[in-house]
Amino acid sequence: MSNPQHNLTSQPQVPLPSPRRMLVTSALPYANGQIHIGHLVEYVQTDIWVRFQRLRGHEVHYVCADDTHGTPIMLRAEQEGISPQALITKVWQEHKRDFDAFQISFDNYYTTDSPENKTLASAIYLQLREAGLIEKRTIEQAYDPVKEMFLPDRFIKGNCPKCNAADQYGDSCEKCGATYAPTDLLNPYSVVSGATPIRKASEHYFFKLSDPRCETFLREWTQVKTPLQVEARNKMKEWVGEAGESKLSDWDISRDAPYFGFEIPDAPGKYFYVWLDAPIGYYASFLNYCQQKGLDFEDWVRPNTTTEQYHFIGKDILYFHTLFWPATLHFSGYRTPTNIFAHGFLTVDGEKMSKSRGTLISAQSVIETGFNPEWLRYYFATKLNASMEDLDLNLQDFIARVNSDLIGKYVNIASRSAGFLIKHFAGQVNDGAMSHVLLQQIRAASEPIATLYEEREFAKALRLVMELADMVNAFVDEQKPWDLAKDPAHKAALHTVCSVTLEAFRALSLYLKPVLPHVAINVEQFLNLPPQQWHDIAVPLNSKHPVRPYQHLMSRVEASQIDALVSANQ
Ligand code: MSP
Ligand code: ZN
Repeated sequence: MSNPQHNLTSQPQVPLPSPRRMLVTSALPYANGQIHIGHLVEYVQTDIWVRFQRLRGHEVHYVCADDTHGTPIMLRAEQEGISPQALITKVWQEHKRDFDAFQISFDNYYTTDSPENKTLASAIYLQLREAGLIEKRTIEQAYDPVKEMFLPDRFIKGNCPKCNAADQYGDSCEKCGATYAPTDLLNPYSVVSGATPIRKASEHYFFKLSDPRCETFLREWTQVKTPLQVEARNKMKEWVGEAGESKLSDWDISRDAPYFGFEIPDAPGKYFYVWLDAPIGYYASFLNYCQQKGLDFEDWVRPNTTTEQYHFIGKDILYFHTLFWPATLHFSGYRTPTNIFAHGFLTVDGEKMSKSRGTLISAQSVIETGFNPEWLRYYFATKLNASMEDLDLNLQDFIARVNSDLIGKYVNIASRSAGFLIKHFAGQVNDGAMSHVLLQQIRAASEPIATLYEEREFAKALRLVMELADMVNAFVDEQKPWDLAKDPAHKAALHTVCSVTLEAFRALSLYLKPVLPHVAINVEQFLNLPPQQWHDIAVPLNSKHPVRPYQHLMSRVEASQIDALVSANQ
């Protein structure tokens, strides 16, 4: 079967680019809740990209951490009757367990509540102060007089000013949909103590983003210097404005005690707002890793470095990563990110994930109901692209896609050919068959597929791989090895067909390796191969290394498993 869409036959072998050096992160999950499948979109996306870069021979360091500070974590610990430290230790273990189960290959999974982060955050703050970018100002805020603490907006509820519905949050009404300011709520009360909030003044520390230096820098950084996604660049244009316009507000980076976080230098009772120290947590995790591995941290994080730095995030936290974070880095003497990659939000069956529908699916429940994590990795990958569009997990489509692509097309290739090769040829391929035209076509797809992985166009990459799988299956259907095996006169033809088919399977497995790392290990075992790198596409199976008997690689998804998953989350 020919493939008119992609002219794959005449691609020259491109020499490998010299190894790039990359620091890659995923957003740091909050330490007050479980990992759910929405989060997993991001960690799976980053992990596929990181694994792909490693397969290409680049030096990649993938770090992450729990985001541990702030009011919600402090209050949740109090509710559970434990210290914040005990809570974040417990949650760290749960998060680590879930990420391991989904084969997220962090080089370091750390915590923002670390000595490295405290040191870095304090030093960065002092640099910003030195640069004249920190200002003290007194502001008034809602305060709980019983609990004696300032209240973030979401800890205040009251009656909707439009429809009078009770127990509505300070920004919008769930009953009538009205939006308003927290001060508009009728009969407001503190969620923490029930007391009526009062207004209270206190001194806060601000990062002066409105300073012309910051505005100029951010305009240049977001509009010229960084190849941001189009949607991101346009958003930033709105936020940063044109030269001469002054659109940015100063950023309030302090919170008053009681607060779980780092105390600000020379400011007793004042703490860094969690969003100040959270991104610095990327560097703290990397610093901790560098110390373990003997890497030169400074070489990576200072301006003029030749290393690359990428942050994968969800679209909801774009503002923090394209404005606050680069400004923080730039004005404290650090390099800025090479790029920020934002993805959209996961919906389930077209709707926001919801507890009552059982679609707020925890990572743990996926594992406990006996799901194969690679099913989900694959499904997400078939939905992921380089844009910030939302993506949908359709549960029926999930079953169809996994069963048809992974089992029906991909795994099927191995199970159809390996048996004959073992039974009739002692597992040895016919070396002469390795230059078959079908194999040449499959190998020629290596660079197009690599480009798509590089560009985070995973859906397109996998479509290409599945088109190749279709070609291989068509080849098998045409050649009918089961018929050839019946007649000893066709032994040579049978040998060729099985050899070509199995070599094709090796190539497809390599193309899928970033997405299905566990399957890849089993395939390497079965085909008797060393760990495959991307350039090994050019090194075919070889009769000196006979393949081993085929072992079961992956099962089908059963509809009953989806039902079990949904009820486990209700
Ligand atoms: N702690 C902050 C990030 C600090 S980074 C210095 C945070 N944590 S989070 O736990 O709420 O989210 C972690 C990541 O998961 C974010 O990038 C967020 O966008 C992503 N997602 C959370 N829910 C998601 C979906 N439903 N779909 C896709 N991504 C989602 O934000
Ligand atoms: Zn209302």
